Amino acid sequence: MTNQISEKKFLRALQGETVECPPFWLMRQAGRYLPEYRKVREKAGDFLTLCYTPEFAVEVTLQPLRRYGMDAAILFSDILVIPDGLGQKVEFRTGEGPVLEPVRNTKDLDRLALGNLGRHLAPVYEAVSILSEAMTAETALIGFAGAPWTVATYMVEGRGGTGFKSALNWAGREGDGFEHLIELLVEATAQHLLAQINAGAEVVQLFDTWAGLLDEPAFQRWVIEPTARIIALVKARHADVPVIGFPRGCGERYIAYVKETGVDGIGLDSDVSLEWARDNLQPLCTVQGNLDNQVLVAGGEALDRETRRILTVLSEGPFVFNLGHGVVPETPPENVAHLATLIRQWPA
Ligand code: CP3
Repeated sequence: MTNQISEKKFLRALQGETVECPPFWLMRQAGRYLPEYRKVREKAGDFLTLCYTPEFAVEVTLQPLRRYGMDAAILFSDILVIPDGLGQKVEFRTGEGPVLEPVRNTKDLDRLALGNLGRHLAPVYEAVSILSEAMTAETALIGFAGAPWTVATYMVEGRGGTGFKSALNWAGREGDGFEHLIELLVEATAQHLLAQINAGAEVVQLFDTWAGLLDEPAFQRWVIEPTARIIALVKARHADVPVIGFPRGCGERYIAYVKETGVDGIGLDSDVSLEWARDNLQPLCTVQGNLDNQVLVAGGEALDRETRRILTVLSEGPFVFNLGHGVVPETPPENVAHLATLIRQWPA
C-alpha cells in the first residue's frame, strides 16, 4: 500500500499529504444522538450484545456515513471489550455507564488471561471483515483500542466517579505489580489491533482518554512507553498501517508523545491551541481535531466560526478534521449535517 496513491483522502492525509479539502470523521460518530442507533441499541438490549453481534455492529458503524458521508468509518465497539476478553466481569448499566469487578493488586491479576482473547473477540473481527467489504473507493475503515493506562483506570476503579484514586494509587506503589497489568494490556492491545488489521482495518487509533491525569514521570512510564511498545509490535507486522494516538489532556507533553511513540497522526483535544499545534506538532505528523463537542451541540454562528478557524489554521498542512472528544448524546443531528457541509465546502 505504501507507494500506491490512494483515492482515500483520509489515508493520503495520514501519509503526510496536505489535502486541500481535508477529510473528516468524528469520534463517537455512531451513538445515542442518532435515532436509528437507538433503535438498533434497543433491539440488541444489552450494550455488549450490540458490540458482539456483527450484524448490529456493522449496521451502527455505517449509520453516520449514510447520513453525513464521513471519509472514514470507525468500527463500532468499545475499549472495554479487552478487559471483558481477558476474563474480567464487565457490564454496561443504563444511566451508570460501565461497571467492572475491580482488579486492585497482583493477586487479582490471576483472574485475567490472554489465552481466550482472540476467540472471545472473534465477532468483532467478523464485523471488521464485513465492514471492510462495505467501504467505497473513498471511505476508509478505522479499527481502535483503548491505550493501556486508560483501560487500566476502568479495570482498577471498577466504575466512574471515584476520582481515579485506586488507579493512581496502585500506579504509584513501586513493586506492587501495576507494571504487570500494563504489560498484559500492551500484549492484549497489540494482538487486538493486529487482528483488526488482518480483518481489514486500514488505520488504527489508540484512545488514551485519561492520559492527562498523570504527572511527568508517570506519563512517560504509563502512557508513552506502553504506547511505543504497542506501535512497535503493530508496525513490525504492518509497517504501512497508520496509527493515530489520542492522549487527551496532556498539554505540552503532546510533543514528547509524538516524538517518542511513533504515531503517524495525533488527535488533539479541544484545549490545544491551533497555532501551537500547527507550529509544534504538524511538522512532526498529521494532526487531527479538535472542534469542541459542546460547540457542535450549540450550533449556530459559533459552530461556523470555530469550524472555519480550525480549517484556516490547520488545513495548510497534513490534517484530518474531527472533534476534540466524542459526539455527546444531546447533539442535534442537523448540526452534524451542517458541520459536514461546512467542511465539504472548504476552501470557500
Ligand atoms: O466512535 C465510535 O463511534 C465508535 C465506537 C466507540 C464507543 N466507545 C461506543 C460507545 C468508541 C471508539 C468508544 C471508545 C471509548 N469507550 C472510550 C474512549 C473515547 C472517549 O470517549 O473518551 C471510553 C473511555 C469508553 C468507555 C465507555 N464506553 C464509557 C465510559 C461508556 C459509558 C458512557 C457513555 O457515553 O454512555 C461507554 C459506552 C458506549 N461506548 C456508548 C457508545 C455508543 C454508549 C452506550 C449506549 O448506547 O448506552
